[in-house]
Parts: sequence; C-alpha cells; structure tokens
Amino acid sequence: MEKLISNNNQVQIRSLPEKYIFPPEKRPGKLPVSACKFVPVIDLEETAGDNRAVISQKILKASQEFGFFQVVNHGVPEDLMKDTMRMFKEFFELPAEDKAIFYTEDARSKKHCKLYPSSLIYATEDVHLWRDNLKHDCHPLEKCILDWPVKPTRYRQVVGSYAAEVTKLVPRILELICEGLGLESGYFEGKLGEVTSLSVNHYPPCPDPSLALGLSKHCDPNLITILLQDDVCGLQIFKDNEWIGVDPVPNAFVVNIGYQLQIMSNNKLKSVEHRAVTNSRTARTSAAFFFNPSDDIMIAPAKALINASNPPVFRACQYIEFLRNYMTRNGSDIDDALEHFKLRA
Ligand code: OGA
Ligand code: NI
Repeated sequence: MEKLISNNNQVQIRSLPEKYIFPPEKRPGKLPVSACKFVPVIDLEETAGDNRAVISQKILKASQEFGFFQVVNHGVPEDLMKDTMRMFKEFFELPAEDKAIFYTEDARSKKHCKLYPSSLIYATEDVHLWRDNLKHDCHPLEKCILDWPVKPTRYRQVVGSYAAEVTKLVPRILELICEGLGLESGYFEGKLGEVTSLSVNHYPPCPDPSLALGLSKHCDPNLITILLQDDVCGLQIFKDNEWIGVDPVPNAFVVNIGYQLQIMSNNKLKSVEHRAVTNSRTARTSAAFFFNPSDDIMIAPAKALINASNPPVFRACQYIEFLRNYMTRNGSDIDDALEHFKLRA
C-alpha cells in the first residue's frame, strides 16, 4: 500500500526515488512539445444535419493522420463529466485504509474493481510509472457496479451513469467511422465493443517530471478508447517523429483508434503511440473507457475494403490471441504488436 503514490501526499517527496527514473532514451526530456499540430476537435452536434458526411470524413482523416481526435457536443451531459471527474479525484484523496479494500498487485485478480500501483506488473517492471491506477470492469454494468467503491458516497451512482452515457456515445462514433470507410451500417456494432472497462489514471505532482513517466508509450490493444481528462496537460502522441500534446479542451472527450480498428480497416485507420508525462505542480487525473471485443471474436480486415489493389494486410485472429501476444510484450517493444499478425506480400 505504501507503493501508492497518492498515499504519500502528506510526506513531501523532494527527489524522485531511483525506481521511478527511466533510462535516458525513454525520458520525456525538457524540450517543449510542438504545439502547432493540434489534434482535430470535431463537433458532433452537426451530425444530425446535411453536414453528416463532412463530419464522418473529418473523423476518418483525423483517425488516419493522428489516430486521435477530440469530440465536443457529444451528448454526454457536462455536469455528469465534471461530477465523474470529481468522484475520481475524491477517491484518490481518500485515507489509505479506504483505498486498501481495492489494492492489489495481482494482474490476474478477478475482482471487478482493482487499484494498482504503477501498472499490472508492478513486481516485475524495471521502472515504475508515476501513477496510481484504478480499473473497473463495466460489463455487465449491473453486476460489476456492485464491486465498485462506496466512498465517496455518490461514486456508484455518478460513475454508473457516466458509464451508461459513454456506452451510448460510442456506437454513434463507430457508425460515423463506418460511413467514412464505406462499410455497411452497423458493421462495428454488437460484440466488437461489448466488453467495456474503465481505467482511471491518477498522476500526483512529480518531484522530477523530466526523469519519470506517468504512462509509457503504447498503443491501445482494444477497438476504440474514450478518454476523459481534467484540465491539466500530460497526454502526448507520437507524430512525425516528435511528441505532441493533446491539450485539454473543455467538455471534450479524446477518442483514439485501438489496434482492432486498425486491423479491421485494413490499415486505413491508425492506432498511434501515446504516453502521459507528469508535472511538478498539479495532480492530473484521466479516465480511459476501453471498448473491447469479447475474447472469442474473430478480428479480420473488412472484406468490403479488400480488392486486387488493396490486399489484406493482416491475417484473421481471435481477440484473445491478439491480447495474449500484446501482453507478453510487456511494454518493451510494444510498437511491434501488429507485426505478428501481418501477412507478407
Ligand atoms: C490509457 C491512456 C492517457 C492519459 O489509459 O491507455 O493512454 O492521458 N491514458 O492518461
Ligand atoms: Ni492508451
């Protein structure tokens, strides 16, 4: 439990403990990230009108170029987003004994709510992340929610409503992606994104942000991710050989393409590497909502996107096979996770 960084807030840690110092080539460094290449912000209000095709093309372009976009006017109430963020922040501020109920270092724990220090593999990782991580299963919601925190008192009610709202939003975004790709309506519906989970990242102020990372560079293995971030910068994506910040936009969600959408779109959409850096002044909180296929679902490039000039880039595989392969890479050369499934010309 002393491994949770959020438990040490009272003790001022003046220098970064050695176990959190990344090797030089992985450190965020002191260079400011380029701020001129903004990740597109897309207004979903306009999708009801004549502009629908334009919006779907914008989403497609952003998903090809950045693997990321932000959405505003998405239908999830602003108050609910703020309340949800408040619940997460209050949870991490709870006394250690209230958090201890959820604490584990066991990556295979079957509980529906788990609080990890750093990552799932704390015991075996070379360097720890400057992060505490609360993971909730959300499917089926009625069952999972019974294992979620009861402190703060409104936690289940607020975060449960939030989970339900985000679960309604995602099919709308997937349908726009479908239209942009020219796939039949409902192509990404149902079991492809049925298994949902919510991963809350808490990054307390860090004694030396130039040596530490909140989250190492990675691509998300799932279908699609909806990220809620507070008003503190920290998320970065790797584009054109440099790290660029995905700065917070009020009431927006950050959406990113997971590996499964990259496979199904036959490489049209990209899953782009991202990471989280820390800062020395303010705690940052973010919550990633992951939409995953069920384990047994076969993932393959959509037939409608394949022809003589566009041969399939990937072989079909079960999601569980993909996930096992992704997990064994253990963060070391995670950028290679798709290679294993590529067909050779
Ligand atoms: C993630 C993730 C980014 C962030 O949880 O997969 O990429 O800003 N989070 O915390
Ligand atoms: Ni991620």
